[in-house]
Order: sequence, then structure tokens, then C-alpha cells
Amino acid sequence: MRLQLGVLLSGSGSNLQAVIDRIEQGSLQADIRLVLANRPGAYGLQRATRHSLSTKVLEPSGFSSRQDYDLAVAEALKSAGAQTIALAGYMRLVSAAFIQRFQGRVLNIHPALLPSFKGLQAQKQAVDYGVRIAGATVHFVDEQLDHGPIILQAAAPVTDGLDEQELSRRILELEHRIYPQAVQWLAEGRLRVRQGRVTLERSGEPLADTQELGPCLIQPPLERGF
Ligand code: GRF
Repeated sequence: MRLQLGVLLSGSGSNLQAVIDRIEQGSLQADIRLVLANRPGAYGLQRATRHSLSTKVLEPSGFSSRQDYDLAVAEALKSAGAQTIALAGYMRLVSAAFIQRFQGRVLNIHPALLPSFKGLQAQKQAVDYGVRIAGATVHFVDEQLDHGPIILQAAAPVTDGLDEQELSRRILELEHRIYPQAVQWLAEGRLRVRQGRVTLERSGEPLADTQELGPCLIQPPLERGF
């Protein structure tokens, strides 16, 4: 069955674009029912419009509490037919009430190897700290910031002299590979969460233990089409 997806974003929307591209290529079995932004200027809205997707802007300033705002966002997504939500550069913490409305079917992508470097400017935090391996994480969302059961991670080396901009670019490339894959696994009903751990039910095809992508490492490995 195709996944009925709602996407929440605040900015550029390059992860939205990666999802759109995989859908259009036929490797991701999903329909984007609504792209919702909390900022009218979010470039991701233009990307959505270019692909004839429905968009909506809800600005938090019009609401008296975070909960009221989140309930309005959830209502907009539900009435558009979205059943699964992908946060894609959405610069807001979502409340428990929002997550409950989608029965744990809320995903996020974060540009760090969680649980390290939560919050803003994760790539800068990684460079400033001096880590030698950085990366990206796709996870189910709970009510804590950048927290919840991990679906997929991609690791990238931080070579001598690599600056934040270049690291961000490399991580973003990985994000565009792993986010659509995680969404597809969810669409296939192959992700199980037990006691905070995600397991991926194997398809018929044997997979490598991990996947190397240039100097990067992805686990679980991507499948054909990603
Ligand atoms: C990405 O780095 C994502 O991991 C983080 O915000 C950024 C969004 O980028 N949550 P984009 O808007 O998808 O280009």
C-alpha cells in the first residue's frame, strides 16, 4: 500500500526534494498529501508547488500555545489525508499530542550520529568538538528533541581541515539517500519497534551487513533504487 505522507519543513526542502525524486522515479511507494511550513518564505514550498503538491503555511504567532499550534498542524495534515509525517528540516519541537495523533508514525532526519550533537548546527558542533566520524540519522520521533528509535544511520569521515560547510554538504548528500529509503521501509511495513529499538524485516534479497558508499558507511544498507 502506498504511504500517505505529510511533510513538515521550515527551510530549503532538499530532503523533500529527495523524497519527491524517489517517488517520481518509482522507487518510493508514497503520495505526498501536504507540505506544511511554519514559515511563509520556506523554499521547500516552492519545490512542492513545482511538483503540483498541496502546500499550507501555518505561522505559530497566530496560536496561543505550542499545543494549539500542533493540533492545528495535525488537523491540516489529517484533513489532507496524511497518515505518516516526515519532518524535513522542521525547526520546531513537536508535542506529545501531535505524535499521538499519528500513532508513532512521525519520522525525522538529523545531520548527526545521534545521540551526539542534538539541536541546531549539529555539523558545526561536530567540527568544533573534533570528532573524526560524523553523519546523519533517521529516527522515529518522540517528544524529546532529536530523540526516538533509530531507523538508519550514515557515517562520514571528518578529514583534516574539513570545514563545517563541506561537512554539511557531504552529510546532506547522505541524507538524500537514507531518508527516502527509511520512508520506503515504513511504506513496506518492514519496521518494527520494540523497547525503543527498530528492527528491519529483511526482504527476500540478502543484504550486505553494511554498505560502503565511497568513504561513508550506511547501516542498514540501502536497497536497490536508493
Ligand atoms: C537537514 O540537514 C536535516 O537533517 C535537518 O535540517 C536540514 C534540512 O535541510 N533536520 P533541507 O531543508 O531538507 O534542505
